[in-house]
Amino acid sequence: MSLPALQPTYAPFAFEMASASGDAIHDTEGNAWLDFYGGHCVASTGHCHPEVVAAIQAQAGRLLFYSTAGKLGIREQAAKALVAFAAGMASVFFCNTGAEANESALKLALQLTGRKRLAAVRGGWHGRSLLALSMTDDAPLHQGLESVLHHARMLPFGDQAALENVDFSELAAVILEPVQSMAGCRVHPLGWLRKLKTLCDQHGTLLIFDEVQTGFGRLGHAFAFHAFEVKPDLVTCAKGIASGVPMGAVLMSEAVATRVRPGMLGSTFGGGPLACAAMLATLKVIEGEQLCLRAGALEVKLRTGLQGSAVQVVNGRGLLLGLHVGSAAKALKEHLFARRILVGGSHDPAVLRLMPPLTLSDASVETFLEAVHAFSPLAVGV
Ligand SMILES: Cc1ncc(COP(=O)(O)O)c(C=O)c1O
Repeated sequence: MSLPALQPTYAPFAFEMASASGDAIHDTEGNAWLDFYGGHCVASTGHCHPEVVAAIQAQAGRLLFYSTAGKLGIREQAAKALVAFAAGMASVFFCNTGAEANESALKLALQLTGRKRLAAVRGGWHGRSLLALSMTDDAPLHQGLESVLHHARMLPFGDQAALENVDFSELAAVILEPVQSMAGCRVHPLGWLRKLKTLCDQHGTLLIFDEVQTGFGRLGHAFAFHAFEVKPDLVTCAKGIASGVPMGAVLMSEAVATRVRPGMLGSTFGGGPLACAAMLATLKVIEGEQLCLRAGALEVKLRTGLQGSAVQVVNGRGLLLGLHVGSAAKALKEHLFARRILVGGSHDPAVLRLMPPLTLSDASVETFLEAVHAFSPLAVGV
């Protein structure tokens, strides 16, 4: 039996990608595919945005890499720009991935509070490193690791009464995705979020927003915490932060930042010049092309356009939308794929996810809506 050289970690789309630009992926046979999956929620400014590509190319020719042992103007500039964009946060630590950002934020919370327990929310997804995985509600991923995972307190989604039974004084932190993407784009009820924030503040528990998917304009605001007007102590970022160059970040409030001591955080590649250049260009595009506003406008267009289609309910916010299609979800995904439109699935078999580039064109939205309206669950027997 011949083994594949590449570990089959994820079932890929059934075609080979050659290049991409804007909303479209081009396959090796010359076909264009509309990317409503957004490169796994990463292509915030669209694929290969010319300004992002130019910034990466210029930086690659100047200084490809130096760790934080080197003092770099571009790293300082990136930190200032991100802290300004994330209005309300005071300081940032750069790392490489969403899991690393969550792992770092959770470790900081344990160290700063001296407490031993962490909490998360049922349905949340936070990454595959051990602490991040402990906070992730995905039982198959825990198999065989139970003995080394942290025993997280899991809060029921949106249940205000259940919060009363939690001993917050023992919790170092509560981590949550403001919109639970993998769970089918479930939006936390505002009343629940506010109550949680009050209880965390009362008991000195740090509130961590995992904004790996919801940050960088996706919900129609710079960050979800701006959209919900609930300020966390720590915000973790990755995915869309640098339009596809690997990067993660932990943003922190002034109160947290003043307690972090040198040496508590670190990462060889974190905040490398290439990633910083890509992030600075990403922020410039998001602000210059008013992509937060665009995300909000496109949400309205999609919600309106989906009325009368097989989509029964639209969950989510901005350009992180969960289409509730019931038992026809799989058939709709296949129908769209046959028309060369990529969408995501979720842990809810009835919900498909949209997380397209924030630069999505009106024409692409029209093409998508036409394709959804051409789908009849009855015709495919579901
Ligand atoms: C909300 C959320 N947090 C964290 C992660 C982990 O990010 P990464 O795969 O970059 O480690 C993901 C990945 O899908 C995510 O969706």
